Amino acid sequence: MKGAPERVDHYGEANVAKRSAQRRVLTPIMSRRGGQANKLRVLCMPGVTCWDIDYFLSFEQTGEVVALESDPATAAVIRVRAAGLPVVVHEQSTTEFLSTTDDRFDVVYLDYFANFNQQVEIDVQILMRRRLIRRRGAYAVSFYGARESIVTQARHRMLFEDLDTLRPSNESWGGMSRNRQRCVAFNSLIARLRFCSLFVSEPSSANRAFVTTTVPKWSSYATSNCDMLLGCFSVTGYSKHPDRRKVFRSMDGWYVRGRFGIRRWTVSTATGFSLMQGGAAMDAVWGARVARFYRRNHYTPARVEIGAHIRNWQAIVRGVGLCPRVNATDAEIDAEVMRIVERDGYVTRASLKKAKIGQRPLLVREGLRGVCRRLGVQAGASRRRPIAQ
Ligand SMILES: C[S@@+](CC[C@H](N)C(=O)[O-])C[C@H]1O[C@@H](n2cnc3c(N)ncnc32)[C@H](O)[C@@H]1O
Repeated sequence: MKGAPERVDHYGEANVAKRSAQRRVLTPIMSRRGGQANKLRVLCMPGVTCWDIDYFLSFEQTGEVVALESDPATAAVIRVRAAGLPVVVHEQSTTEFLSTTDDRFDVVYLDYFANFNQQVEIDVQILMRRRLIRRRGAYAVSFYGARESIVTQARHRMLFEDLDTLRPSNESWGGMSRNRQRCVAFNSLIARLRFCSLFVSEPSSANRAFVTTTVPKWSSYATSNCDMLLGCFSVTGYSKHPDRRKVFRSMDGWYVRGRFGIRRWTVSTATGFSLMQGGAAMDAVWGARVARFYRRNHYTPARVEIGAHIRNWQAIVRGVGLCPRVNATDAEIDAEVMRIVERDGYVTRASLKKAKIGQRPLLVREGLRGVCRRLGVQAGASRRRPIAQ
C-alpha cells in the first residue's frame, strides 16, 4: 500500500531485542509442532509491521494465520499486505473475536499494546472456557511491564494471594520486583485453571471444567518506553477433574524464580534468519512468498504487497524466475507472455493487463500480435478490441 510506513522503523533499536525474544519464544513452539498431518492454525495480532504473519508463514506447518486488529486503518494495511496469503483478517478486538468465534487454534500469540489488565485476563479465560486452544496447543502473550492502575495492581496482588494461600511462596508480595509480580499474577491465573472450575457456579460436577497447562515461562525486553513481558505455555489437557499435583511440584516455576526467573533479552542473538538483516535464508523465504503470490494472482507482486522493507527485491523476484514490475528485460516480458499461454492456451490484452505488463515498452513497440507472431503463440480476442487471428 502506497504511503504505508516501513515495517522495521516502528520499534527502532528496541526492535532487535523484541525480535530476538519473539523468535526465541515462538520458534520452539512452532518447531515442536512441525511434521503434523494437519496444518496449524495460528491466531495473532500482527499490527502494521505484519511481523507475526511473515514469521508464522515462514514455517511449512502453518496452514492459516488469523489476524486480529481493532484499528480499522491498521486492519486495512494488514489486508493489503496479506493479500494472496493464507491469512484471514478480523477487524475486531480480541475479546469480541474470542467470545464469538468457533475456530480452534494450535498457536495463539497475542502481542498487546497494554499491560496485564482486565482485558488480557478476560481474553485468556475466554480462550480456556471456550477451549479455543486445541489440546497440546500453545499460548504466548506479551504485555507491558509498566505501571498499571491502582485497581489492576490490587487485582494482581489478589491473584497472587489466591495461589499463595493454597501453596505458600514464603515470600512477601512487596519483596518481588514489579515485573515478577506481574508474571506471578498471570501464572496464578493459569495455575488456578487446574483446580478451580472454569464454570464456578456450575452445580453439576459433570459440567465442571479444568485446564492443565505447562508452567508459563517468561522473558522480557526493553522498548524505548518500558519493559515488555513475553510469556508462553502449552495446554496439556482439558478435564472434568481438578489436578493440583503439578502446581505443587513446580512451585519455582509458578513463582517465577530460580531457573524459572524472567529471561532478559537485550541484543539479538537470534538463530536462523533475521528480517532486519536479511540474508540468503530470508531471501529464500521471500522468494517462496513471491512465487506463491504469483501462483494465486497471476502477476508479480509489488514489493509492498509482500513486505515494504524487503531488500534485494529485484534479485528475489528474478531468483524465482518472474518478471520484475520495473526494468524488466524483453526476455522477461516474453517469459511472462509464455506463462500466460501455458495457463490459458492463448494471450489477450486483458491477460497482459492482469499480469501488469500491458504497457511495457516491448508490447507497446511490437503490439500483442507482433509479440505473439514472434513467439509462435496464439493471440486471443479481448473484449474491448478484437484482434484478428
Ligand atoms: C504490539 S502491536 C503488534 C506488533 C507485532 N506483533 C510485531 O511484533 O511487530 C499490537 C497490534 O494489535 C492491535 N491490538 C492491540 N490490542 C488489541 C486488542 N485487544 N484487540 C485487537 N487488536 C489489538 C494494535 O492496534 C496493534 O496494531
